Amino acid sequence: MPVPGVSLGCDYNPEQWSPDVWREDVALMQQAGVGLVAVNIFGWSNLEPSPGKHHFDDLDEVLDLLHAGGIRVNLGTGTSSPPPWLSARHPEILPVAIDGTTRFPGGRQAWCPSSPVFRERALDLVERVAQRYGNHPALALWHVSNELGCHNALCYCENSAVAFRTWLRDRYQSIEALNDAWGTSFWSQRYGDWDEIQTPRLALSLRNPGQLVDFQRFSSDELLGHYRAETAILRRNSSAPVTTNFMVTAHIRNLDYWSWAPEMDIVANDHYLDHRLGNPTAELSFAADLTRGLAGGRPWMLMEQAAGAVNWQPHNLAKAPGEMIRNSLTHVARGADSVCFFQWRASAQGAEKFHSALLPHAGTDTTAWREVLRLSETLQRIGEVAGTAVVSDVALLFSWESWWSSEGEARPSQAVTYLGQVHAAHRALRELGVTVDVVSPDADLSGYRLVVVPGLYMVGDAAAERITEYTRDGGHLLVTYFSGIVDERDRVRLGGYPGAFREVLGVLSEEFAPMPPGDEVRLSNGATATLWTERLRLAGAASVASGPDGTPAITRNEHGDGTAWYVATELDPRGMRDLVRNVITAAGVKAVGPETDGSVEVIRRTGEGRSYLFVINHGTTPVVCPVAGYDLVTAEHITTVVGGGIAVIREEKA
Ligand code: GAL
Ligand code: ZN
Repeated sequence: MPVPGVSLGCDYNPEQWSPDVWREDVALMQQAGVGLVAVNIFGWSNLEPSPGKHHFDDLDEVLDLLHAGGIRVNLGTGTSSPPPWLSARHPEILPVAIDGTTRFPGGRQAWCPSSPVFRERALDLVERVAQRYGNHPALALWHVSNELGCHNALCYCENSAVAFRTWLRDRYQSIEALNDAWGTSFWSQRYGDWDEIQTPRLALSLRNPGQLVDFQRFSSDELLGHYRAETAILRRNSSAPVTTNFMVTAHIRNLDYWSWAPEMDIVANDHYLDHRLGNPTAELSFAADLTRGLAGGRPWMLMEQAAGAVNWQPHNLAKAPGEMIRNSLTHVARGADSVCFFQWRASAQGAEKFHSALLPHAGTDTTAWREVLRLSETLQRIGEVAGTAVVSDVALLFSWESWWSSEGEARPSQAVTYLGQVHAAHRALRELGVTVDVVSPDADLSGYRLVVVPGLYMVGDAAAERITEYTRDGGHLLVTYFSGIVDERDRVRLGGYPGAFREVLGVLSEEFAPMPPGDEVRLSNGATATLWTERLRLAGAASVASGPDGTPAITRNEHGDGTAWYVATELDPRGMRDLVRNVITAAGVKAVGPETDGSVEVIRRTGEGRSYLFVINHGTTPVVCPVAGYDLVTAEHITTVVGGGIAVIREEKA
């Protein structure tokens, strides 16, 4: 980690303020124990106010002030938003949307990931920034661009079409192989030449799903290419670690971070509570577990979160007292060693002037500021947990490719979503007090007692074989519906569903039979089922629960030395939790925390002979700690945690 202990940090945008404010900022940062600040994230138009004319004095001064104040810097390369002169001179860098219309400057990130002009100008800036600050004593970390692909991930312009063709040639080598992969015999789509291929703009009817999934892959790779290009320059000029901020969150899905993560020196994520979702805190926990998976189980950074409300949802809810601290500690419990915020000082102008910050418009005589001080003190008190790792014996497989492809334009039911299934499985485990590692379908599963596979629609042969083998060798497997359906080309695995998992699950489904939203049926075990049923028959498995007509809906199969469960419907949360309780019991999985409605989280972090139990009580009633002991937060021996409270208990010997 760039800063020792469990550090507190934030984005800092001094260019929005005059130099006298910078001095006050540093003094207040010291008071708040801010150890790391991200600067120069949107610096380009200040650093290069006109083409080739550079102005570094302000940034020099800011870095020196921060350094003098003992605050480390997470230095942006400054390329996330091009200056107006660049788009005015080179409108060809502007992104083109799916309907073929241009997206204009005036906001941010208005650049095409495949634009050679943009790339050249951005890299020129990075070279200068890297040369100037690569050995600055305040520099702790490089921050490439910002949230790559937040707005511009999918560009449909001519430059992108050219780059897409190059990417496809690389992948398929011959046009015949591409035709085969995309199934272009369908609807007269056969290509004779690479130049005939376009980006998948809006069409009159359903578009080719093979093309769509490849366009997603291409788009993720294009931005990763941009990350690599900037990083190569940073490495030539500096030995500081390099990262960029991921967006592991429910509403952004365009980058396949499994391919990005190995290239980060430190994995960093931005997370904002999304009140458009029914259960935002559960989603936070899921995102944190997935970020830890991306970090390969090693500590990671929470690069951005909001101290209070955001400004970009329809109704921007303020946080309840203590909520910001509980959420911060939830990230730490799940492996973050650094808690950073967007941003330091609430903006007075610009599109984010109603976004919360560590220092609110109302100043320091505020509850919000006092909460910041309390968080800071808490993080200092628990500093010794830094470097430890989260313990889990359950893996949940997550795949961006399945997310993209399973939600195609034409599918059995528009009411079924990939994240819906993933969240439902994670939620059940979380409510049962079980910690889950969220890992790639290609991960090594051998160390886990239970592997959960929600809605893994697209799965390659190798991954499917590994999952089957894991079970054969004695593992426990839980698969939910619409899994194993297609290979990497989005080609249906023939012979009956769930294709790749038919054998391990011992079932064969002849037909999907989704239900209209609103309909529900009662299963033989009392659970309520909605959205999805299948004409499923047993092929070795036993029925655990069936629908009203006797069709199996939940099955269990002994496969080799292991056991594989299949859920062929959407269970209500209680029904899902009941099932998962049985599955974890059979698998010998031990819960770390008590079973609750999700209002209590108990997570263990261990390492080097040390062990800590995080108890986070999002609810209103006290909770008895699974282990009584010394709480780092209160510096007292405790047995319970009050409603809304948190504890970090130092356990006797790992
Ligand atoms: C992120 C971004 C920040 C800020 C924040 C507001 O997407 O990286 O610059 O805009 O959201 O929530
Ligand atoms: Zn483009």
